Amino acid sequence: MPLKTVISIVGARPNFMKVAPLHKAFQQYANSIRHLIVHTGQHYDEAMSKAFFDDLELPHPDFYLGVGSGTHAEQTARIMIEFEKVLGEVRPDLVIVVGDVNSTVACSLVSVKLGVPVAHVEAGLRSGDRSMPEEINRLLTDTIADYLFVSEPSGVANLVKEGVGAKKIHLVGNVMIDSLVHYRRKAGQSQVMEKLGVRAREFTLVTLHRPSNVDTLQGLDKILSIFERVSPRTTVLFPLHPRTKKMIDQYGLSGRIGSIKNLKLTEPLGYLDFLRLLDNAQLVLTDSGGLQEETTYLGVPCLTLRENTERPITCEIGTNELCGLDVDKIVRKSFEVYDGHAKPGRIPELWDGNAAQRIAGIILKKL
Ligand code: UD1
Repeated sequence: MPLKTVISIVGARPNFMKVAPLHKAFQQYANSIRHLIVHTGQHYDEAMSKAFFDDLELPHPDFYLGVGSGTHAEQTARIMIEFEKVLGEVRPDLVIVVGDVNSTVACSLVSVKLGVPVAHVEAGLRSGDRSMPEEINRLLTDTIADYLFVSEPSGVANLVKEGVGAKKIHLVGNVMIDSLVHYRRKAGQSQVMEKLGVRAREFTLVTLHRPSNVDTLQGLDKILSIFERVSPRTTVLFPLHPRTKKMIDQYGLSGRIGSIKNLKLTEPLGYLDFLRLLDNAQLVLTDSGGLQEETTYLGVPCLTLRENTERPITCEIGTNELCGLDVDKIVRKSFEVYDGHAKPGRIPELWDGNAAQRIAGIILKKL
């Protein structure tokens, strides 16, 4: 078969660990498929981007669009303008987008308008909450994509309900878990716990960055109350997302957060350091999508500070529980975990480290 060109898009932090296993899988078919990586530059800080390329052994992106931050319209529009130029130059046979960030929807839209087929990895997930920018990105991307690669059964059900033809839908498992499986042992060699002075199963790992939690004073106030109440029982470890850091400063809460004993703030961490922490945490508090899945795989208790999830399997069979921003509930559930009464969980089917292989195999046949 003549050499086909496939472009994968990365933009924001949660994209890198999804494209890394795809890149590895395509390398096995190097005689038939040329795999290129386009980085939109949605995330650009060293700690939010380059550190992940290094940890995940990703090559330099073939194109870097350098779009940076902005309002949703500005960011999405800039990505579209810059990515259209790439497609003019390369004319790929397929564009792969992952996840639900602005880069995902922007590049999908540009591709289909130029007649380039699109594959969406992590398709079909729905929170049912259209106030989340990610939900809009998911709905729009799935509507126009040609190949829909799904990580859990709820995704298939959602797509079928929305009228998507069965031929487009492929339940393949979870590419982010591929990275976790691949790098777990290497992450075990990270010295991050020693550096931060924490011991296995004696700390609570926190990540929070959703606008609905961190963009209001009321939300941040509740989050700090949770830290104040659980920290006598655990070390709270909180790597700060740039957005969260900005809001804490803006609301003048740095003094209060700095005075909480047993709370350790850090910069955003790289993939391997973070994975070591995750694998050794007693409890995770988060509003991230990916962490709900990673904790389920690792069997680590997770309380999600959101009212809904687009990843229901993590609650149905995994270790995840939805708590909203209900301070009393979160503190009570945290104490249950510290007292040894965590919710047990199982690993979902097809979360086995081979999802990217399955996707590459299907794409090879289709092209
Ligand atoms: C984006 C995604 C979100 C994902 C998250 C993971 C969208 C709509 N949102 O949210 O789904 O869960 O990434 O991190 O695509 N900033 C920096 N340095 C950076 C990147 C951002 O300082 O490298 C700051 C900027 O002040 C920026 C703010 O963070 O305005 C938010 O960045 P943005 O990319 O707009 O959204 P995230 O909140 O990171």
